[in-house]
Amino acid sequence: MCGIVGFTGTQQAAPVLLEGLKKLEYRGYDSAGVAVMDKDRIAVSKVTGRIASLCEKTGQGKAVPGTTGVGHTRWATHGAPTEENAHPHLSNDGKFAIVHNGIIENYLELREELTGRGYHFESQTDTEVIVHLIEMYYRGSVREALIRTTNRLQGSYALGVICTEEPEKIFAVREASPLILGIGVGENFFASDVTALVSYTRNVIYLEDGEYAELTPDSVRVFDCSGRILDKEISRVTWDVRAAEKGGYAHFMLKEIMEQPGAVKATIEPRLKNGKVVFDELGMTEKDLRSIRKIVITACGSAYYAGCSGKYVLESLCRIPVEVELASELRYSDPLIDSHTLLIVISQSGETADTIAALKEGRERGAKTLAIVNVLGSSIAKLAGMTVYTWAGPEIAVATTKGFTTQLVVLYLLAVYFADLQGLAASVYAQLIASLQALPRQIQQAIDMNPSIPELAGKYHGSSSLFFIGRNTDYAVALEGALKMKEISYLHAEAYAAGELKHGTIALIEEHTPVIALCCNWTIMEKTMNNIVEVKARGAEVLALSFRGNQKILSAADDFLFIPDTDPLFSAVTEIIPLQLLAYYTALENGCDIDKPKNLAKSVTVE
Ligand code: BG6
Repeated sequence: MCGIVGFTGTQQAAPVLLEGLKKLEYRGYDSAGVAVMDKDRIAVSKVTGRIASLCEKTGQGKAVPGTTGVGHTRWATHGAPTEENAHPHLSNDGKFAIVHNGIIENYLELREELTGRGYHFESQTDTEVIVHLIEMYYRGSVREALIRTTNRLQGSYALGVICTEEPEKIFAVREASPLILGIGVGENFFASDVTALVSYTRNVIYLEDGEYAELTPDSVRVFDCSGRILDKEISRVTWDVRAAEKGGYAHFMLKEIMEQPGAVKATIEPRLKNGKVVFDELGMTEKDLRSIRKIVITACGSAYYAGCSGKYVLESLCRIPVEVELASELRYSDPLIDSHTLLIVISQSGETADTIAALKEGRERGAKTLAIVNVLGSSIAKLAGMTVYTWAGPEIAVATTKGFTTQLVVLYLLAVYFADLQGLAASVYAQLIASLQALPRQIQQAIDMNPSIPELAGKYHGSSSLFFIGRNTDYAVALEGALKMKEISYLHAEAYAAGELKHGTIALIEEHTPVIALCCNWTIMEKTMNNIVEVKARGAEVLALSFRGNQKILSAADDFLFIPDTDPLFSAVTEIIPLQLLAYYTALENGCDIDKPKNLAKSVTVE
């Protein structure tokens, strides 16, 4: 995924572009660049590496004067992260500069055609074909050239363009990649994400697919592909600017871990009214639910593991079969999905390419689709038949935390809602509501009750491999706990169903092998404690995670993490907290770039 930003107004553009790119850096950070209109020519400055390098190279923007420009921060897809491949890209005649987030699937044939017509390429990127097409189709109207160009493109793109022939305008086009307009006073903006705009304006327009925008310092016009002007609604961003800042924490990830009680509360509270779970945004009836023969949950990364946790709760309360599929697998698996399937799509960003593709696959097969997303106006939110937002606020750290726990509670709320549609005993209902309402407080307790985590991180941070084991709901949490450790501390970690140890993995256990045993599900905890005995007999070092009141665990393991007594159905929400913190402090010990881990991106908008 990449981030694009554009500005036109009266102040110098480059400093505004650089500030915007800093807010978008979580979307990709291997190279960056800006292009600014300097009277009748376009000045471009690009770097490999982070925005900080671009700030340094441009003297905080002073070296690229002008009041109109575009900027880009890249997560490389086509072509290595080099200065040549960094955006913005220029047309051969120097009249156009372009920035792009997305992927052009037919770029090779376009590149051949353009090369045959004498256009010269500077880079290996798919993006560069776009700027040469614009030059080829330009006959005096940038908008018309853009429309003709995008008619040739297959794939996804959020484009930002400037042109020497219309020097105070910035042009934006959206197709399957997010693009938002910022409406200022005497200045206007576009960006891939609201976080890049909110320091300047709270008035935004979410572009839809197939829409073209032309912005000058005093006007914003949006067109459809036939050139017809559209009347777009201006939305107001409500969350606080500080929500997208570190707020005094060393890293966004730590801040977002600490925000989880509030994020979970903000996600649950609006959906509890008069002791009932309400989903005004769903409009599902008992008849609709009765027509559902199975639920398929599909997602990527941590969102997939949220689905693995949610499966247990949905099946336990609703007795509807639930399958959980990786989106990158489902999209090519000729899935058994039909009109009697409810396809639940989970995505924090709402832009993950594999998840979008799986959603489209499900829609084409007639499934009812329900998206659980965190980003307003995201592609998945627009594509799904029904959308439920996790009110986590902007999540900047690449490794998700509050995004994950709020996805979990939406799944829990849905399970209770569906169970109620099927007829849930009032006493059971009341207990479930009470358990849900207790979660924010219990998350806070889980944060506070493990002061030994930094010390444990010091003990384990040099391990060559860590094993996370658990059963049932504990196993699903083990999967996410292992991913957290891998993605930010770069230690190899593997999650295993505790019952499976004896069928292979135990062969890897030797003296001091660290095993993190999750024992938070009362119903089967004894079995996992037996597994602790098995691995300790082979020399393992065991860190057990269990309920604070579990005295038995104290004689079984070497180190301990605790959670408060949480309803076993919902314990994943508290159980993951110590594991997030353990991964965080281990990464700190290892000197890793915690908010921007190597090779990763906040959301991968390409296959
Ligand atoms: C990965 C992120 O790129 O994508 C993970 O690093 C995330 O944190 C996964 O879980 C899925 O992203 P999303 O936005 O679809 O939930």
